[in-house]
Amino acid sequence: MSPMRKPAALVASTAVFAAAAIATVMARQRLREARRWARAGAVLRDLQEPCAAPGESGSSVLLKMLVTYVDSLPSGGEKGLFYALDLGGTNFRVLRIQFGGKEQRIVKQESKGVSIPQHLMSRGSNELFDFIAAALAKFVASESEGFHLPEGMQRQLGFTFSFPVKQNSAASGTLIKWTKGFAIDEMVGKDVVAELNKAIKRQGIDMKVTALVNDTVGTLAAGRYVDNDTVTAVILGTGTNAAYIEHMNSIPKWCGPPPESGEMVINMEWGNFKSSHLPLTEFDVALDAESLNPGEQIYEKLISGMYMGEIVRRVLLKMSQDASLFADNVPPKLEIPHILRHGILGIIENTCGKTRKLVVDVCEVVATRSARLAAAGIHGILKKLGRDIASPDKQKTVIAVDGGVYKYYTFFAQCMESTLRDLLGEEVATSVVIKLTEDGSGTGAALLAASYSQRLQAVDD
Ligand code: BGC
Repeated sequence: MSPMRKPAALVASTAVFAAAAIATVMARQRLREARRWARAGAVLRDLQEPCAAPGESGSSVLLKMLVTYVDSLPSGGEKGLFYALDLGGTNFRVLRIQFGGKEQRIVKQESKGVSIPQHLMSRGSNELFDFIAAALAKFVASESEGFHLPEGMQRQLGFTFSFPVKQNSAASGTLIKWTKGFAIDEMVGKDVVAELNKAIKRQGIDMKVTALVNDTVGTLAAGRYVDNDTVTAVILGTGTNAAYIEHMNSIPKWCGPPPESGEMVINMEWGNFKSSHLPLTEFDVALDAESLNPGEQIYEKLISGMYMGEIVRRVLLKMSQDASLFADNVPPKLEIPHILRHGILGIIENTCGKTRKLVVDVCEVVATRSARLAAAGIHGILKKLGRDIASPDKQKTVIAVDGGVYKYYTFFAQCMESTLRDLLGEEVATSVVIKLTEDGSGTGAALLAASYSQRLQAVDD
């Protein structure tokens, strides 16, 4: 062997060894990769199966079906200046609307949104209501031209309070419990209108609350104002709920003389629905256990915007712990509860296409389940109203919908609509219209304040 050939052989054999070593490392890496994706896929399947399958029979329906004292919806003839205060999530809104009657409808309207500092959602009721009333006072002070309050008349306010309330009249009601991250214990059992009135007084505003409404009821009123065929309203936002118009003889809990219309709007509080037909994944169970209201609002926790992102976060966290989805480190942000309410991009940037695809798959599984469950709820209401079968006169059925999940998440909206179409069948589906009723909860409260005030005036005259 020549001295020249020895190093060459050495080089060659070193190269062969190196190549073999690299190949082994790469093969191991590929194997690890494949295992990683298999594990991530398994987590996705674990999520997918219970998200799609029906559960066992038997259910424990916990719907409150609250009587709202709304026995007639806006006619279009409402006139005058009315205010509304819309409280139901992380923001509240104040509005003023000048209604011009049947011909002119809404003549002028102004509104302002204010976000509620997190700490006010769990302190005392005075702190929360003082904060809200201060914003209302500022808004009232900015009333511009084009809004007319008749001489000697007090400003009137429709109060949209989007939590379960046991109403005692059209303008009073006690809080049954908080939902959606609020936890001011001393408020439970108190009259929410009385609390607001006290805060309004403390601010020195000359204003009277003439209507207390849930956001679903406000949306139903606003929907009816623009389309007479509106029979139900659904909120798909931070929380979820529905309201519909019921015949008095189907409301056994109503005591007292029935209203002239023979009808009453019912606030279903459907977010509290729970059934063994609603299979829960390990992620749902953990989310519920760690929530402010364990065991409650289960349907809402499967559907609404406050929880959808949190379910996704929990799945991605498991994938990154079990399958190193985002390389070797678990992204610290993923460990923060509710971080995905503010979007997913901060978490998935700098990740490969395959990872992103998996993240999108997780989002779609969660959103598909949510949309299908919402469609099933709507189908249930239409069935109750007898609008799930073809009517000989092709009567139109309008469902007023509001809320960020429906408004901004196209995938969700399309999936919900196509599921409802499948449930109804093509023929019936052609007469059913889902109508986005933007800001309906506030507008509806102002409208109901206007119609109550007109009614009271008629009684006085
Ligand atoms: C509340 C309902 C409300 C819904 C939508 C739920 O958490 O219990 O009263 O209508 O959220 O805002």
